[in-house]
Amino acid sequence: MKTTSDVRTLTRKPLPDNSKLNNFFIDSLQDIYYAEDHLVDALEKLAEKATTESLKAAFEEHRAVTKGQINRLEQVFDSIGEQPQKKTCHAIEGIIKEAKAIIKETDADTITRDAALIMAAQKAEHYEIATYGTLVPLARVLGHQKAAMLLAETLQEEKAADASLTDIAESFVNEMAGEEAEDE
Ligand SMILES: [Fe+2]
Ligand SMILES: [Fe+2]
Repeated sequence: MKTTSDVRTLTRKPLPDNSKLNNFFIDSLQDIYYAEDHLVDALEKLAEKATTESLKAAFEEHRAVTKGQINRLEQVFDSIGEQPQKKTCHAIEGIIKEAKAIIKETDADTITRDAALIMAAQKAEHYEIATYGTLVPLARVLGHQKAAMLLAETLQEEKAADASLTDIAESFVNEMAGEEAEDE
């Protein structure tokens, strides 16, 4: 079984750039680069369709943060001597497709719409947290210290976005949704 000390040993001895692990790291960067790019448009749509001002503001704020993350990913590629490239991320396409379906299935100007949008957005955040959560230690193991630092910054932003959505849901969204009766 691998222990933390094994990982530290690997950190001291970077693997060659053409290693399978490094190729996997680059591939995963291309995947999340594609995902972030698509989330910029998706977040605009979510903000437009949200009912409450606080949720609209949260989506707009995270959209601005996401643009910064795209920029940061370009710095990550640069730090390892790679050109930024996108690779289709089927997972985020599915999550965005589901968000669009949720918009169709819920009534405009209702709190139920906001509760549903929060769930859709948190699925995207959790996908991002899972991806960056693995990319950070991978970058360290591969000896890409600058990339690890940059990716860790983004990981913190995704966690903060997820927590703020939970706060909005807990403060009023779920509670008020219970008061909206289902149409007979
Ligand atoms: Fe992101
Ligand atoms: Fe995000």
